[in-house]
Amino acid sequence: MALTICIVFSLLSLTTSDRNNCLIFHNTADRTSRGLTSVPKDLNIDIISLDLSHNEIVTLPNNSFERYSMLSTIILDNSRLSMIEPGAFSGIKRLLNLSMERNTIHFTELNTNEIFRSIKYLELLNIRQNWETMESSWIYPYLGHLPNLIYLYIDLTNNPNFTLSDVKKLTKLKIIRFEHCYLTALKNETFEDFPDNVEQIYFGNINFVIPHISLAESDVLKPFPNLQVLSLTKIICSLSDALKIVYPFQNKSMEAVIYKQVGIPPGNSVVLNETMVSYLNKVCVKTLVLAENDIVCLAPNILASLNYAHCFNTVYCLETDLP
Ligand SMILES: *[C@@H]1O[C@H](CO)[C@@H](O)[C@H](O)[C@H]1NC(C)=O
Ligand SMILES: *[C@@H]1O[C@H](CO)[C@@H](O)[C@H](O)[C@H]1NC(C)=O
Ligand SMILES: *[C@@H]1O[C@H](CO)[C@@H](O)[C@H](O)[C@H]1NC(C)=O
Ligand SMILES: *[C@@H]1O[C@H](CO)[C@@H](O)[C@H](O)[C@H]1NC(C)=O
Ligand SMILES: *[C@@H]1O[C@H](CO)[C@@H](O)[C@H](O)[C@H]1NC(C)=O
Ligand SMILES: *[C@@H]1O[C@H](CO)[C@@H](O)[C@H](O)[C@H]1NC(C)=O
Repeated sequence: MALTICIVFSLLSLTTSDRNNCLIFHNTADRTSRGLTSVPKDLNIDIISLDLSHNEIVTLPNNSFERYSMLSTIILDNSRLSMIEPGAFSGIKRLLNLSMERNTIHFTELNTNEIFRSIKYLELLNIRQNWETMESSWIYPYLGHLPNLIYLYIDLTNNPNFTLSDVKKLTKLKIIRFEHCYLTALKNETFEDFPDNVEQIYFGNINFVIPHISLAESDVLKPFPNLQVLSLTKIICSLSDALKIVYPFQNKSMEAVIYKQVGIPPGNSVVLNETMVSYLNKVCVKTLVLAENDIVCLAPNILASLNYAHCFNTVYCLETDLP
């Protein structure tokens, strides 16, 4: 309806219309790819969603969005952002979704304790892909002021330490997407600071520019006793090590365990044997996906052993099985 009205309006008043009006539908402002260097000040004050992706906004000064107090979604992906002043998000208390992926924000140098303080209702924070490489000195932003966060999309440094970011205060956190994983070891203490309410974890990599995970300790996921979905995609780690991390879920039920493109390139023909699935076959998994992992051969009785728990609805083992 809003779209129709807008088109009619612009046809009737070609001479006077502000062409930009037509990009505001349902209080959503699309200001992507316009070479903007700052947050525009000429939009309707009652917009609830603002997309500023693919611009040139290097700095977000204090009160950047103050004028738009109804905002619930801000998207600043791919916008060359590197500096955020402590009061940048002041005045937008209703903010639920904040996405700032693919920028060059050095959170280590920012006062993140202040930055997120004013947006305590935030449910989704996406700050993945803000670093080309991950040094161990990199410090995660302070997240303790975001007690309502449900979704966290972030990268993993090579030696992640979440203690100072106070993630234990995220008692509503349900879904974590670790998109770029630069770490070389999955240790029992890697995630020890996280609260136990997390239900889904996705480890992934956009491309294979990442180190080899050469150590996987079996209790790395122990801090997540309520985990329902575990997904690993494009992870350079021996399948044998990767399968070890389901250890804490033995005798428990999970919705899905998904391992896709897990292995050490170049593809070195894995034989899936009983030792490798010795923890997995004690987890009651509804959907199990083991695809594109260079599994060339299943040791005898493996599928039977995986079905042992009588829990699987669906098992996809080879890529040809995938729907
Ligand atoms: C930005 O706001 C913070 C308080 O939120 C204040 O301490 C700081 O001085 C302000 N910066 C500028 C440049 O005004
Ligand atoms: C916020 O993001 C979540 C997850 O992507 C989405 O389901 C939800 O619709 C978004 N909310 C708004 C207000 O855009
Ligand atoms: C993480 O950092 C905290 C505070 O600096 C420190 O006490 C703790 O030992 C570190 N944890 C790990 C696993 O390195
Ligand atoms: C990690 O946890 C597993 C399982 O509890 C234990 O066997 C192993 O010794 C632990 N590793 C370290 C280095 O503490
Ligand atoms: C799982 O249950 C079996 C049978 O009840 C028990 O022998 C085994 O110790 C349990 N394993 C774990 C890791 O809790
Ligand atoms: C299963 O494969 C792993 C890794 O290739 C190997 O270390 C282990 O000895 C094998 N176990 C059996 C029973 O063949």
